Amino acid sequence: LPVYAAALALGYLLGAIPFGLLLTRLAGEGDIRSIGSGNIGATNVLRTGRKGLAAATLLLDALKGTAAVLAAPLIATNAAPAGDLAVLAGLGAFLGHLFPVWLRFRGGKGVATFIGVLIAFSPLVAVGFGAVWLAAAFTTRYSSVGGLSASAATPLLLWLADQPKAATLFAVMAVITWIKHAPNLKRLAAGTESKIGRRSVGSP
Ligand code: G3P
Repeated sequence: LPVYAAALALGYLLGAIPFGLLLTRLAGEGDIRSIGSGNIGATNVLRTGRKGLAAATLLLDALKGTAAVLAAPLIATNAAPAGDLAVLAGLGAFLGHLFPVWLRFRGGKGVATFIGVLIAFSPLVAVGFGAVWLAAAFTTRYSSVGGLSASAATPLLLWLADQPKAATLFAVMAVITWIKHAPNLKRLAAGTESKIGRRSVGSP
């Protein structure tokens, strides 16, 4: 159905805007992909030492997901209900962030966009995500452990909140996020993952 394709495409185009790359470039920090982990996300932007830029990256990478989910139902029809379009737009935004055509499909790891999409589906579960992220990241000092823990907890929280459709969507997204964190998982196993606030990656 063209309306379904439009929702997916709308989400993808919003999600594919690489805010971390754009903001750091505009701020004169060069190419974020040549710094730290090479990722385009807020955690890596923080490694430039620019906290404001990192916060803006987190906010905008999240909001593009929220915007996609909230905008998609506007094109709903009888044959394409709002709820289905929201799911497709959210998935599109997430995939756009991870696999942006503009960056030869090499995008981010999806944690910020994951929570942005989640806010649109369930603000309450998004608070739960935030709590798990904070607890895991601040006890271990690893941002990746925060994202890995919170993304894994989300499908369960949505299922407990009686949102089975969203739980399925976020289970798929969590698996993809985990796969995209393969370099982090390797560094965690080797004890070389960089802690929050440290600029280098890969050294103990
Ligand atoms: O949200 C991304 C974070 O989990 C890991 O980022 O730059 O340490 O690979 P990074």
